[in-house]
Amino acid sequence: FADKILAGIRVLVTAGPTVEPIDPVRFISNRSSGKMGAAIARKALEMGADVDVVAGPVTADLSGLKVTSVQTATEMLNAVKDKLGNSDILIMAAAVADYRPADYSDIKIKKTADDMNIRLEKNPDILINIAPLKKDMQVFTGFAAESNDVRENALKKLEAKKLDFIVANDISRQDIGFETEDNEVSMFFSDGTAVDSGKLPKSGVAEIILEKAYDIFRKKNGT
Ligand code: PMT
Repeated sequence: FADKILAGIRVLVTAGPTVEPIDPVRFISNRSSGKMGAAIARKALEMGADVDVVAGPVTADLSGLKVTSVQTATEMLNAVKDKLGNSDILIMAAAVADYRPADYSDIKIKKTADDMNIRLEKNPDILINIAPLKKDMQVFTGFAAESNDVRENALKKLEAKKLDFIVANDISRQDIGFETEDNEVSMFFSDGTAVDSGKLPKSGVAEIILEKAYDIFRKKNGT
């Protein structure tokens, strides 16, 4: 990489879905290949950063990256909390399951009934849980995967999750977002500004996100 602008900076990236078990053979989960998170982690490495990845079960290639593997949202929360104190920039690209089965059955549920109900309870929101731990010098970024009213919903999450900026993904499109090679995002900043990436390979989108995070990091740290 031409200039390793992230040299000495510690970047924590989350990637992929979480899975929430129902019984030993079944689970509920979210769509996410982990490609966007992996692209951010690889680009951050190229740009000179020290990179930690916390990943759910992904199909994306994470070889050569420092990865903590998790399954559930609770495990992801704990892993992020563990690493957070040693991070300058956090980028939450993971598609965390918002709900989990309220009761786990440790034996396989038999398919005797014609229908069944699975009661769900809310998972912890990782970004909201860690917001009080944030140090002034740290930069926190999340994604917003939206099928409608992308800008409005992203701005609500930017505020609720106390982020420096949010990366909005229009997941109603088939050519970007989940599982694809390319992405196109809008970034909304806490100072009210916004920037569109244009459609690029996920590595190109990753570079723009990291440059924006670095700009904010520099401003906060007076460098
Ligand atoms: O993995 P790919 O196939 O490459 O696809 C990439 C992607 C579309 C999954 C990715 O770009 C993306 O948009 N990730 C965020 C998906 C998501 O869960 O968005 P959300 O709008 O539900 O959540 C908003 C933010 O809060 C996210 O940063 C999420 O990580 C975080 N969150 C969500 C739920 C939760 N319980 N805790 C959280 O911290």
